[in-house]
Amino acid sequence: MDIQQIRQQCKATSKLVHFNNAGAALSPEAVTSAVLDYLRLEQRVGGYEAAHTKATELDAFYASMAELLHCQPDEIAFVENATRAWDQAIYAVRWQAGDEILTGEMEYASNYMGLLHLQKQTGIKIRLIPSDDQRQIDLARLSAAITPRSRMIALTHIASQCGDIQPAAEVGRIAQEHGLYFLLDACQSTGQLDLDVNALHCDFLCGTGRKYLRGPRGTGFLYVRASKLPDLQPIFVDLHAAKWTAANSYELQANASQFENFERFVAGQLGLAVAVDYALQIGLESIAERIQLLVNKTVSALDDLPDIKIHERSMQRSGIITLSRQQEPASALHARLAGAGINTSIVKAANTRLDTQINGQQDRLRASLHYYNSEEEIERFVRVLGAH
Ligand SMILES: Cc1ncc(COP(=O)(O)O)c(C=O)c1O
Repeated sequence: MDIQQIRQQCKATSKLVHFNNAGAALSPEAVTSAVLDYLRLEQRVGGYEAAHTKATELDAFYASMAELLHCQPDEIAFVENATRAWDQAIYAVRWQAGDEILTGEMEYASNYMGLLHLQKQTGIKIRLIPSDDQRQIDLARLSAAITPRSRMIALTHIASQCGDIQPAAEVGRIAQEHGLYFLLDACQSTGQLDLDVNALHCDFLCGTGRKYLRGPRGTGFLYVRASKLPDLQPIFVDLHAAKWTAANSYELQANASQFENFERFVAGQLGLAVAVDYALQIGLESIAERIQLLVNKTVSALDDLPDIKIHERSMQRSGIITLSRQQEPASALHARLAGAGINTSIVKAANTRLDTQINGQQDRLRASLHYYNSEEEIERFVRVLGAH
């Protein structure tokens, strides 16, 4: 990986230290240009006409996503963000009151609220599986909790609030063995890890463009396993998701586009395709390796600061590091780093209510690193943190 070249392809890296990749990463110039060029084309020739001109590139988005996730292009839906993709998945199942969804304590806040909302609408039951002492879903308790009414396991691969990686493939295997749907939120892992929907045994996988994929904001996607489509139905349809076949009938598209909207952020779809190709070109294994290297360096440097507590517990760490300091609230740490040109973010305790191990505790600082970050940036981050 040519880090210098990669940094040159994203000018902002020379001006600021961006450790907020779990919020939104910096896009390479090629992504931003694809979006801006397309918006200019729309302005010149008209929106529908521009889409017609770029039909091949728009279609290539599906092939690129499929290559990234090791699936078929028609198993991909372009959706505006990961939360809506999650909602599309949970509402696609024909639920009966009393059916069960099993999930973990490290769920993303909006995902869990989505499940609570679904529970209210349909009478399903949420079964919460505790984490083990490494903050990973307890696999033995998960298996033991499955009943004849269980129908889905829904899991967040890497939490927004904690960088431990959940054992998604093992969870997927358990789901498959018991004939349950497996929905994986790969919002933080797409673009960071090499994901293979077959190795993960996913029926659904949702993600977003702006985080580790370095794509535009307002873009996301949903993978849906083709063999499961006949049993599913989208919560909403429009004249893209379905064909109006007679005055009183319609027919759903026979692929994942039944979960899409006609109207969308077309420039964003093009930009996301460029971002996916960019990641593929670098190689997902190299990306994962580089992130691991940078995170290990950061953690061992932070270990030398006596009053910093790092919250990750597992051996399987992602680019996300969360930390706190007894004497200095996360908001003060965040402001001090921002003053030194270092972007980080704050994990609000109020958004992590299921994680019993931090429930009721203070907010934390989140530093999320990507492959384009440098060792000098890590040194600067640790120096600023320590200088108080
Ligand atoms: C793990 C996880 N899932 C889902 C989401 C929601 O993504 P979006 O804002 O694209 O809906 C986030 C956003 O931070 C996230 O971190």
